Amino acid sequence: MSVIHLERRIIIISTLFALTLFGLAAMAINLFHVGLPTCLTDIKPFQKGEVITHSPNHFEVHYVSKMWKFEPEEVVVPAGATVDIYLSTPDVTHGMILIGTDLNLMAVPGVVNYARVKFDKPRNYQLLCHEFCGTGHERMAATLRVVDQATFDARQIAPKPPQETDPTYKLLEAKDCMTCHSVDGSESIGPTLKGILGRATKLKGGSTVPADEAYLRESILVPDAKIVDGFDDVMPKPELTDEELKQIIEYLKTLK
Ligand code: CUA
Repeated sequence: MSVIHLERRIIIISTLFALTLFGLAAMAINLFHVGLPTCLTDIKPFQKGEVITHSPNHFEVHYVSKMWKFEPEEVVVPAGATVDIYLSTPDVTHGMILIGTDLNLMAVPGVVNYARVKFDKPRNYQLLCHEFCGTGHERMAATLRVVDQATFDARQIAPKPPQETDPTYKLLEAKDCMTCHSVDGSESIGPTLKGILGRATKLKGGSTVPADEAYLRESILVPDAKIVDGFDDVMPKPELTDEELKQIIEYLKTLK
């Protein structure tokens, strides 16, 4: 084979290869709705977390990641919403990953990073920091709840966490339980604790059990023993004294 022929063959093969790559990328975007990485934004770094509503189906969330939390800590959007996520940090480098989606951003001081996510179905998402950022790194979690369009209420977009004064509530906060559970009936990463005692609880796998005292004790001490249907197996084993465990179970009984 002459050099000219060989050259022509290489040019044809590499052109076909490039076209195939573009074709696959176009297919991924159009058929499978895969989001491609975008350019850096020209938004100035911000210090305040907020949710901006552009239309009933289009939201913009400014997330501030800082030692050691995300602001806003909870965001609620209706199913079908397109959410533009901007991420900034005033202190050190953090990460942001939204479990169950392909959102994965770095928060770098002085820079704003951006991603667009479309949420089709109601679901509770956990937002975590994936960059080791210091002693409180593992506490950096937030929730993004996608709720049914019919039940979505614009006032709930970034609800304030309840300010409880009960000493056991404070203990639950200190043990990080309230990052995922609530006492006001709202569901997030974990089921609400309101009315938990005796509640008929549907488990992953289909069976339903009553949440009696033995169930509560087991669910606290061995979180992965039974997983409630619709939630993920993400609860860490808490460190509790017998006294604290008793105190918490007594408190749960009062949450009618
Ligand atoms: Cu922020 Cu890890």
